[in-house]
Amino acid sequence: MSKESITVIDNRTGEKFDFPILQPTLGPDVVDISSFYKDTGMFTFDRGFTSTASCRSKITYIDGAKGKLMYRGYDISYLATKKTFLDVAYLLLHKELPSEEKLKAFQFELKKRSYINESMKKLFDAFPDNAHPMAILSSAIASLSAFYSDSLDMDTPEEVMEMAHRIIAKIPTIAAFSYRYSQGHPVIYPDLTKGFTENFLFMLRAYPHNYIELKPIEIEALDTIFTLHADHEQNASTTAVRVVASTQAHPYAAISTGVSALWGRAHGGANESVIRQLEMIGSVENVDKYIAKAKDKNDPFRLMGFGHRVYKNFDPRATILKKLRDRLVDELDIDSHLLEIANKIEKIALSDEYFVKRKLYPNIDFYSGLILNALKIPKEMFAVIFVMGRAPGWIAQWIELKEQPDMKIARPRQLYLGPDEKTPKE
Ligand code: CMC
Repeated sequence: MSKESITVIDNRTGEKFDFPILQPTLGPDVVDISSFYKDTGMFTFDRGFTSTASCRSKITYIDGAKGKLMYRGYDISYLATKKTFLDVAYLLLHKELPSEEKLKAFQFELKKRSYINESMKKLFDAFPDNAHPMAILSSAIASLSAFYSDSLDMDTPEEVMEMAHRIIAKIPTIAAFSYRYSQGHPVIYPDLTKGFTENFLFMLRAYPHNYIELKPIEIEALDTIFTLHADHEQNASTTAVRVVASTQAHPYAAISTGVSALWGRAHGGANESVIRQLEMIGSVENVDKYIAKAKDKNDPFRLMGFGHRVYKNFDPRATILKKLRDRLVDELDIDSHLLEIANKIEKIALSDEYFVKRKLYPNIDFYSGLILNALKIPKEMFAVIFVMGRAPGWIAQWIELKEQPDMKIARPRQLYLGPDEKTPKE
């Protein structure tokens, strides 16, 4: 028996099976069970993949117990405070931070591709008024595969980068257009003189021939939010992107699947739910009632913006955003009513035994919800903002999957608990 292996004993028969232990650069060792079924005739059962590494990856490292997050070896607080979102997007795609020259060239590539095909406007027109921007965004991203069918196979690195640039450049435009259409407002085309994040806020807020002034802190806050969302290893939406990519589907279809997965309240929809929940709570006096609901086992009510599958001590992204929120409170006119309710909930949750025992700390969405609200970004756009940040991560994961020579179609098995055969015998 090799030292780097684990032995599984079937207590029913006494049979022993060895499985190799793979050593990561960082993090827990990983048992390779890919031959488990072949060797033992059994499947493994892992609800929600809590103990399963679904791939090898060199992109993002998380240590949930220590509250550590790194992209390509760089700590998130360094990237969030010293680098821009486009530096981070470049890092994820190219595996290294860009020089000033390379960053400029990257920005130029994105600006060139920031307009969308005019025919796509018919797609926006087809949606009913008040359609959720995430519904429009996922359809519009999937439809890019129809507009750019020239590079369906993505055989060369140039084709892959073309796809990556298109997606990162067009998502803000599609996102802003989705919102403008949903509100019946005229769309604002990209302003190529503006930076990536400033241009998005401009397309969201401006009116034709109307100059708008954006405060530097607004641009910085949104840029930081993009950076903090840029990747998060094998979360639900990234897994969805990888599963679809493993079928050889078009990358735009894979990214659109990521958008759909991210929309859910337990994932990217959480920051919208944070604000909706604060509005529903309505006043500081009602907080205790809702905290009691959150603690009641027979009540499905959950405190939005609290808890995390991986971070069990603190969410490092939340720590960065907490500081940013405090700066925004000083510099912008934050809705003090919601802030008061949020502050009370935060205080209780950080000291109440129920939350402390279960390690339910404020997560990134608790603070990003409050910050986006302060930036006067409509609630329905919160998950869209998450998508804009996450797009480079999804693409980097898509590229990594494609580069692995032993890539296999994702096809889990199941523990069947349905009826035995009922078909009548002839
Ligand atoms: N409010 C009240 N109780 C909670 C909450 C909450 N927000 N989150 C977890 N719990 C309780 C849960 O009831 C369970 O209690 P018990 O042990 O008595 O049965 C215990 O804590 C463990 O919960 P879990 O559901 O097993 O934890 P999970 O790792 O499966 O879920 C989560 C993680 C984020 C889905 C969950 O904490 C949650 O629903 N939070 C609210 C939604 C939210 O803020 N989501 C954003 C996550 S961060 C975004 C991202 O990184 O993508």
